[in-house]
Amino acid sequence: MKNIGLFYGSDTGTTEMISEQIINLIGQQNVIKHDIFDTKVSDFENYDCLILGLSTWYDGELQSDWDSFFEEFQTIDFKGKKVAIFGIGDQYSYADTFVDGVGIIGKVVKTNNGILIGEWSTEGYFHDSSVAEFETGTFCGLAIDEDNQSEMTDERLKRWSKQILKEFAE
Ligand SMILES: Cc1cc2nc3c(=O)[nH]c(=O)nc-3n(C[C@H](O)[C@H](O)[C@H](O)COP(=O)(O)O)c2cc1C
Repeated sequence: MKNIGLFYGSDTGTTEMISEQIINLIGQQNVIKHDIFDTKVSDFENYDCLILGLSTWYDGELQSDWDSFFEEFQTIDFKGKKVAIFGIGDQYSYADTFVDGVGIIGKVVKTNNGILIGEWSTEGYFHDSSVAEFETGTFCGLAIDEDNQSEMTDERLKRWSKQILKEFAE
């Protein structure tokens, strides 16, 4: 198993909690966790496999620490790196901007030559639109909604963690 770097940002702790669950599912020995709050661009150089996690705020904006880091994030060369993204959002209160942050950083990864893995079906979600829906019916990463569908979170995390481990290994 290659080393995996998990980079997350969280305002009220939800994304941090979900990050811990993903780390437990993937195996603590395989993952190194970084809070994007004190991350440097050079930290990304250590990994060929990346997991990026964030929430969306204020009608489609990046979580605050991701927002502060975004200019630097756009300078990263993702060539040869596999990148899985998960996002936390609220599909009812923010139906037009559900997990937009996943799409915003996903576009940067794609533009900067990264390989996006961990795509996820939109089946079972009730949003109207999302920047993360690169193709109709598919989010470019996992969407978690702790505000409205917390009962589905465990199962989604289990399935997605298994999926990305397989895709990292391919
Ligand atoms: C003021 C406010 C704005 C929000 N805007 C969005 C949004 O545009 N899209 C979305 O999917 N979720 C939105 N949310 C939901 C948060 O992403 C959600 O509560 C998440 O669990 C917060 O995670 P964190 O504690 O890791 O930052 C918003 C929540 C609040 C309170």
